[in-house]
Amino acid sequence: MTNSSTQDLLSTLPREEGINSAYCYQYQGFWYGPLSLEGLIDCQQHFQARKDDIFLVTCPKSGTTWLKTILYALINRETCSPQDPHHPLLKKAPHHIVPFLELLKPSEYDSVSNSSDKSTRIFGSHIPKASLPKSIMEEGKIVYMCRDIKDTFVSLFHFANRTNLRPSPISLENAFGLFCKGSSHAGPVWEHILEYWKESLERPHKVLFMRYEEMTNEPRVQLRRLAHFIGKPFSQEEENSGLVDQIIELCSFDSMSNLEVNKTGYLMGKVKNDSYFRSGVVGDWRNHLTAEMASKLDQITEKKFCGSGLSM
Ligand code: A3P
Repeated sequence: MTNSSTQDLLSTLPREEGINSAYCYQYQGFWYGPLSLEGLIDCQQHFQARKDDIFLVTCPKSGTTWLKTILYALINRETCSPQDPHHPLLKKAPHHIVPFLELLKPSEYDSVSNSSDKSTRIFGSHIPKASLPKSIMEEGKIVYMCRDIKDTFVSLFHFANRTNLRPSPISLENAFGLFCKGSSHAGPVWEHILEYWKESLERPHKVLFMRYEEMTNEPRVQLRRLAHFIGKPFSQEEENSGLVDQIIELCSFDSMSNLEVNKTGYLMGKVKNDSYFRSGVVGDWRNHLTAEMASKLDQITEKKFCGSGLSM
């Protein structure tokens, strides 16, 4: 999109204060910062998925960075051992290795090359199912990760204040109100999760539904599940050699957050790489939310997920 066509579109859309941008805009039922919205419309118009593509979709702050590293290490394990001291994940930030689809320019789609088998491209994305470019629903596979919504919110609140994407810091109460209303980036988070949950039930070969907490509690089980889903299950030989644990170790919070490349450098020249690593703890919401806030989020979640078979 050109600058002026973006401005024309934005002026017609509902607008709200953003949690991690000055404003966010409602488009096709979900909320976006201006940059992502422009990229979303570009990819709706120009992106062509291929059959071997893998799309890693999340709501922001659900474990995207982690899953990007896991998926990359998994897919490239034949040509690059997780114990290789020159492994790309030790040299480049996860978001540079696996880009966000909606942050790419159309001219960059075809140059994404992050898999040794060349035919596979791995993209990250926060795009809700209903707004995905049509070809993604037809070609490739989707790995979706969600997280306890209370932890997602707390992580987002801290991210907003660790980056300079807003003109001024945001209070917990203000961010909470906006989040509950649904107007967080790619929100409402509940609808985002539900859409992919339903698709994973209807088309389990197309969408793998994962949870941050399960990845934390049973990483080996989840890694094997993921490897199987993408059509690259671990061989007995790989199992015997300890490859599963090596990938988990390479991609662990401690390992990734202590790398020089992740402590320095920026995404899009704006967001420091270290903003994507905070504590990586399940249940950290207990240290930040009041009992009322936690209970309000739980009530909304229960109501929205009622009858879906999904619980949190
Ligand atoms: P916290 O803010 O709760 O620590 P996203 O990647 O979707 O932006 O999500 C960021 C969250 O994932 C942050 O959560 C971050 O600390 C956590 N995270 C990043 N890398 C991780 C890893 N390797 N293992 C576990 N959690 C990780």
